[in-house]
Amino acid sequence: MEALDDRVRVGQAGLGAWGANLVRNVEELADLRWICDADEAREEQFSRRYPSARATGSFDDLLADPELEAVVIATPVPTHFELARRALEAGKHVFVEKPPAMRAGEMEELVALAEERGLVLMPGHLLLYHPAVLKLKELVDSRSLGDVLCIYGNRQNLGKIRKDENALWSLGVHDLSVILYLVGEEPTEAWAHGNSFLTPGVEDVVFCYLRFPSGKIAHMHLSWLDPHKMRKITVVGLDKMAVFDDMELERKVTVYEKAPEQPTHTYGEWRTRTGDIFSPKIANDEPLRLEVSHFLRLVREGGDGAEARDGLAVVRTLERLQRSLDEANGS
Ligand SMILES: NC(=O)c1ccc[n+]([C@@H]2O[C@H](COP(=O)([O-])OP(=O)(O)OC[C@H]3O[C@@H](n4cnc5c(N)ncnc54)[C@H](O)[C@@H]3O)[C@@H](O)[C@H]2O)c1
Repeated sequence: MEALDDRVRVGQAGLGAWGANLVRNVEELADLRWICDADEAREEQFSRRYPSARATGSFDDLLADPELEAVVIATPVPTHFELARRALEAGKHVFVEKPPAMRAGEMEELVALAEERGLVLMPGHLLLYHPAVLKLKELVDSRSLGDVLCIYGNRQNLGKIRKDENALWSLGVHDLSVILYLVGEEPTEAWAHGNSFLTPGVEDVVFCYLRFPSGKIAHMHLSWLDPHKMRKITVVGLDKMAVFDDMELERKVTVYEKAPEQPTHTYGEWRTRTGDIFSPKIANDEPLRLEVSHFLRLVREGGDGAEARDGLAVVRTLERLQRSLDEANGS
């Protein structure tokens, strides 16, 4: 247990459905000084739960506290950029839920501001802290799968129907952060098709295609209008294939020894080979706790800004995909 004085002094804005999970972890791992929500009823509800934190409806109160070192932002997406910019300008380290901005230009501004001031800017790309994704990364980087050929994500459900963000920005940001992390490149091509069936201008179903400089390709199927609840990422290598299925309780990652092969006696003909199917052990740690711990460590020990730059690559790619989606829809 860290001495109380060593803990990072944090204020959190946004105490909604997701903010409630975040603040629980912040309270356990840091010195929670402020809680803030624009909704008075929420503010009251959480001030009863966390009586030692000061409660407010105004973000300015957090920024004006000279002792506060960091802010956590879990408000709706359209507010992220403005709140993060103001917090960085006030000299606070920032953890901001995904995506931190809805335009690449705005994200560039945040990254530059954090660099200039020597502050941490960490986007909430939760899956990058998921032990199963770290296992996929290890399988890719150690070349256990051979050359990676393609990656695809399925994030479908008959789920929460959003009105201010489409399926690309709401769901795709997760898969995209993982795909860019696994490939380690930014795509040269980014195409998206989809349609808004329920709310004009808000696509409920989106299909995306990405192609990378190395020739790897990726696909994402994103939808909240689907009979299947799927949260799955498949990595196809030339030697093996791996699947991360977040709906599985135990077998989060499965490795398939399935591959094409060209035995010499077949004179150039491709055949397929199937071998063992196994599930490596994946630690049961809560990804959100790992993510918050990572942020607090960066605040204390400093970092090289990699998280913010990765966040920029994600927003840049989302923006290109959105442009493609708009062109396809003639808007
Ligand atoms: N990483 C993940 O897996 C994950 C999962 C769900 C949501 N999220 C993200 O978390 C964020 C919040 O999502 P949610 O589902 O909790 O939304 P929500 O609508 O349930 O909660 C948002 C809260 O922010 C408050 N708020 C709005 N503007 C504010 C302001 N200026 N200052 C203070 N409070 C303000 C609202 O009153 C509300 O209580 C979104 O960015 C969403 O993308 C991330």
